[in-house]
Amino acid sequence: MRKKVIAGNWKMNKLASECGEFLNSILTEINTDDKDVIICPTYVSLPSVINITKGTNVKTGAQNAHYETSGAYTGEVSCEMLKDIGCEYVIIGHSERRKYFAETDETVSLKVKKAYETGLVPIMCIGESLEEREEGKAFDVLSAQITNALRPLDIDEKLIVAYEPIWAIGTGKTATDEQAQEACAFVRKTLNTLFGDVSEKIRVLYGGSVNAKNISSLMQMPDIDGALVGGASLKTEFIQLVNYDK
Ligand code: PGA
Repeated sequence: MRKKVIAGNWKMNKLASECGEFLNSILTEINTDDKDVIICPTYVSLPSVINITKGTNVKTGAQNAHYETSGAYTGEVSCEMLKDIGCEYVIIGHSERRKYFAETDETVSLKVKKAYETGLVPIMCIGESLEEREEGKAFDVLSAQITNALRPLDIDEKLIVAYEPIWAIGTGKTATDEQAQEACAFVRKTLNTLFGDVSEKIRVLYGGSVNAKNISSLMQMPDIDGALVGGASLKTEFIQLVNYDK
């Protein structure tokens, strides 16, 4: 049985000074017994979120990291720096980073490799655009993103992959349970072709307008092992979302 993961991606939201009040309002309410719950705030809020969640089962993740250890990379933060402050996960290759910050499958590959070497758990994001889906190319895109990034690497069950169709992110337009299941099953099949049976242990998440209402039925799908949540992770709705009905 793969343990479910609910990860909240706060994106560029919440001041460091706002984290305490919000987290204190959700930490005692969410049930983490049977799932991994991860909060991914901005870099500047990470120390505060790590501090506040200490002693709870809630883990923290960064939203990006550089693939070098240190050096002349103005504005960047390395996996070692994240590890040093107690961060455990890192989102890599989110579609917003691919779109606005020229992230490519090649940089995603380097970053996943570095996360592994550093002992951070990578949450690697993939997903097709609306145009690609309408042209019937969704699975070709997913296959290429997975293969280009992961084929050169030595992957094990720690890896988390998040399938996030770009057309569903922040739009309120969730993929249907069947669309999400079909794509997550395809992701697992592709991982199986590359790495064999370990694919059965790798958690594959769905992301894109997940909320307290649609989470339960998505989580019933056999190949969906959790959710990467944007907007709904910023509100107390996150409590109901994490505590979804099984
Ligand atoms: P959303 O974002 O839940 O606001 O659609 C998901 C994500 O980008 O990870």
